[in-house]
Amino acid sequence: MFPQGAAQRAGGRCEPVQRAEGFHPGAFGDEPDGWRPIARRKPRRVRGKKGGTAAVRPLATAAFLLLSKEAASLEPLRFARGVLEILDQRLLPHEVRYLSVHDARGARDAIAEMAVRGAPAIGLCAAYAVALAAREAAASEDPETTLSARCGEVATARPTAVNLRYEVQQATAALPKDPNGWYAAALRYAEGRHRDQQAEDAAIARHALELFRPGMRVLTHCNTGGLATGASGTALGAIVSAHRALGLSEVFVDETRPRLQGARLTAYELGQKSVPHHVIVDGAAAQFMAQGRVDLVIVGADRIGEDGRTANKIGTYMLAVLAHHHGIPFVVAAPRSSCDAAWRGEVRIEIEERSPEEVLAPLGTPFAAPGSSAYNPAFDVTPGDLVSAIVREDGLFWPPYLLG
Ligand code: MRU
Repeated sequence: MFPQGAAQRAGGRCEPVQRAEGFHPGAFGDEPDGWRPIARRKPRRVRGKKGGTAAVRPLATAAFLLLSKEAASLEPLRFARGVLEILDQRLLPHEVRYLSVHDARGARDAIAEMAVRGAPAIGLCAAYAVALAAREAAASEDPETTLSARCGEVATARPTAVNLRYEVQQATAALPKDPNGWYAAALRYAEGRHRDQQAEDAAIARHALELFRPGMRVLTHCNTGGLATGASGTALGAIVSAHRALGLSEVFVDETRPRLQGARLTAYELGQKSVPHHVIVDGAAAQFMAQGRVDLVIVGADRIGEDGRTANKIGTYMLAVLAHHHGIPFVVAAPRSSCDAAWRGEVRIEIEERSPEEVLAPLGTPFAAPGSSAYNPAFDVTPGDLVSAIVREDGLFWPPYLLG
């Protein structure tokens, strides 16, 4: 179980001295059985595999029924007969529409405009985009140059999630010499990654189970479910699994301004899976924590640095500080493909700045006083020492982190 509450009382970090068997009532209460304070553990390095719009047109539109079975199995990405179908998440939960994408630039636009979003899902979309780029390049005058130009556009469609760059690199590395073999090889890579994501999400949920207890009240931010990964989800997948295995009493869902991924997508996915939840405004988290109504915060990541520093949806850092202040465990769940060991020390990453219009007129509805300007950073960075645990497909990691 978690060290943090105990650590604050003891004035230091804690580590598990034994694996919890079943529910430890003391773990979040007065008696932190199974935990002892430590000064600082030696970091353990963890290695492994890691670490235009013109082409987009509506394929199908359906009236959205919250309880429909079809809606329960919505996939963010499908590839069939040479066409990439992308669920337009900007329209959810009120409308289900797939965009039909025929070329890499169409995929790049869908990523940049957030029809598809969530770090692993945009990585997967990028892998399929490489296949589309390869097909186009092989038919062009200069295959190498065309491929490199298209892949460069895809890799930089959004700057913060490392998955995008990583999948483009991996997919292009899988190409044979002969351009005639590029498309098949890139598609094989993308489809393989799609299958791998299922296994990775399932493993994350399995490892994360150790962090939950029956009746817990959990808070999450943004959307980290199947819509964000193309499988069962990272942090949200863990929440759903924990609810099924142990029974959570409540999930608090930050609405996640300005694009409302929490209110629109997370609440939708939890509803589909019958997990009790309440949407709260982002600013309400502090109040619920102060009232003792939150036992655990679990979020996803767009990039995790070597020491556990985590770039994630704007508002995540605020939650980490709040959780620390209130002695509540703050957990990050993400696959290894979201880890970037080169992000360490003084290295800075680019934090995506999106259009001020998203803040001034959320979802297209003008809110702010006319003439106002706005700042709109899409992500923030939480220092690793505020992260109580990191869950990946290869296990559970405790601070101090040295992630590969
Ligand atoms: O801007 P978004 O919607 O792509 O941001 C998504 C997030 O911040 C998620 O928490 C993160 O990508 C992890 S998704 C499993």
